[in-house]
Amino acid sequence: MKFLPISFLILALAAATALAYDPDPLQDICLTMRNYNMDFSSYAVFVNGKFCKDPKQTTADDFLFMGLRKPGNTSNPLGSQVTQAFVDQFPGLNTLGISMARIDFAPGGLNPPHTHPRGTELLVVVEGTLLVGFVMSNQLNNTLFTKVLYKGDVFVFPIGLIHFQLNIGNTYTLAFSGLSSQNSGVITIAKAVFGATPPISPEVLTKAFQVDKKVVDYLEAQFWYDNN
Ligand SMILES: *[C@@H]1O[C@H](CO)[C@@H](O)[C@H](O)[C@H]1NC(C)=O
Ligand SMILES: *[C@@H]1O[C@H](CO)[C@@H](O)[C@H](O)[C@H]1NC(C)=O
Repeated sequence: MKFLPISFLILALAAATALAYDPDPLQDICLTMRNYNMDFSSYAVFVNGKFCKDPKQTTADDFLFMGLRKPGNTSNPLGSQVTQAFVDQFPGLNTLGISMARIDFAPGGLNPPHTHPRGTELLVVVEGTLLVGFVMSNQLNNTLFTKVLYKGDVFVFPIGLIHFQLNIGNTYTLAFSGLSSQNSGVITIAKAVFGATPPISPEVLTKAFQVDKKVVDYLEAQFWYDNN
């Protein structure tokens, strides 16, 4: 019995480590230096987060981001546009483990299959209709979960899993997402695989996708629009 508290402590420590996707803040705020007197942004990519602005120089503006006011331009091959409010755009998010995006969809617009390697995504539909889905990992047999969302509906895409959103209505659709990281990252599957620079060898892709080299050559020759 006397070992119980120690095992609890070890478990608690393990749990704390496992849950710390973004570093827990060690002070109230750590606004990034971007756009301030000294620009350390080119150095900041080498640390886990960004350099901090002097907290004594903080103003209310540091906590405001107006970049989501404007609708994204959906006149592109996907018919959708993601506007990010990640730490790169919104320096006030540094160390806070949270971020946002707005996603505009033309009728039929698609946010193609992609993953966020560091963030769970919570999406709310503000206008229109969306077919959303995500695929479980191999371990869970790549099970697909889908739903049709209407105005006010919320859907969660668990961290790291491949997901998509398609506007199946015949009107414009608007959604907002919250993400559980200041820098969730985005990997668009088709663009990453067929639009890699330099291209991935057709020997790899013909086997991986079980298609002829002709098909791989065709796909690698396409322009893969980045809607982020
Ligand atoms: C949207 O993008 C298209 C294609 O690049 C461009 O022709 C059009 O002017 C843009 N519209 C706005 C409002 O910026
Ligand atoms: C995945 O498929 C295997 C083999 O058919 C099965 O034994 C296992 O229960 C499935 N797992 C889940 C989570 O569906």
